Amino acid sequence: MLDLKRQYAPLHEELLAAVDHVLKTQQFILGEPVAVFEREAAAQLGVAYALGCSSGTDALWLALAAAGIGPGDAVVTTPFSFFASASSILRAGATAILADIDPGTFNLGPVAVENVLNSPQAAAIKAILPVHLYGQCADWGGFRRLATEHNLKLVEDAAQAYGAEWQGVKAGGLGDTAAFSFYPTKNLSAAGDAGMVTTNSDELAERVKMLRQHGMRRRYYHDEIGWNARMDGFQGAILSVKLRYIAGWNEARRTAAARYAALFAEAGLAEAGPYPVHGVVLPHEAPGSKHVWHQYVIRTGRRDELRAFLAERKIGSEIYYPVPLHMQDALKELGYKVGDFPEAERAAREVLALPIFPEIREDEQQTVVAAVAEFLS
Ligand SMILES: Cc1ncc(COP(=O)(O)O)c(C=O)c1O
Repeated sequence: MLDLKRQYAPLHEELLAAVDHVLKTQQFILGEPVAVFEREAAAQLGVAYALGCSSGTDALWLALAAAGIGPGDAVVTTPFSFFASASSILRAGATAILADIDPGTFNLGPVAVENVLNSPQAAAIKAILPVHLYGQCADWGGFRRLATEHNLKLVEDAAQAYGAEWQGVKAGGLGDTAAFSFYPTKNLSAAGDAGMVTTNSDELAERVKMLRQHGMRRRYYHDEIGWNARMDGFQGAILSVKLRYIAGWNEARRTAAARYAALFAEAGLAEAGPYPVHGVVLPHEAPGSKHVWHQYVIRTGRRDELRAFLAERKIGSEIYYPVPLHMQDALKELGYKVGDFPEAERAAREVLALPIFPEIREDEQQTVVAAVAEFLS
């Protein structure tokens, strides 16, 4: 599914030197290695502030808390994402309201969000938290319009979308604030847990810095209940090295995605969608969006059988995500039931992520497509 060792081999010397520098300077928590990374990441993403923290989950919580979201507030998000997209809202003390996805992109749908905003639930809603799922920005034109009309904050879950763009603006600079994850399988990855919050607001940035350090602006004087959510120096140093390569890696992913599209088309398997009939529906890049292909996710009717067939041939695949958030035991308190979000539920039954990473070879992709073709024939 993913071979991280292929990324490490050519970076070996550079990464060891970066780690050695941290050991020599003993800057283990925040400090210069993280500050350097923050400056470089902010410049690359075109935002005023990038603030390192301990994980993507903490980045989401920090972004929400810094934006002033708390008890009594509600935030609208998608039922089709990793758990943290919703749990971070609850951790911030707010309520999560879900709205269904667009079946073509799998991202939160502005029309579904608009319906929620015109419902009796609307009074408490303070923010929308779209997720740039699989590496493609959510429909930002739609969300920006809704945010303006209803005076809401926009918080991006950009965990899967480092380098993705919407109409030329990079993820991280679209909303009031954004959260990134550098979990080791992400496009830009740390050697452990790490995350980042971005914003163009001086006030929000100041609050993130305070909240990630137990609510301290001045050492041992606590203004608010924050948390320990700091990035460590090793992760900052490693991420700084990888920042030099991420644009090339994302381009390689785009090449690999185009190759899959060509191979599936040649094999006569590609269907128009959004729902599969006999073959597979391929993922596509929405107009105005630059996809960075964190995942290459097809839709197919006999998904579980296909996955077992690929596994027998030692071909990795994964299901992101098998259970929509409103059907998770831990989120029962949100009060939803099966059938409430039919697009998310259908996607959860049909999606299958195929191997994609910058170093994947053409012959490996041919093997994957040939195996899918054999299964469907
Ligand atoms: C969409 C999404 N949001 C949030 C997270 C949480 O990030 P982390 O695992 O770094 O806490 C992830 C990654 O796992 C994710 O994919």
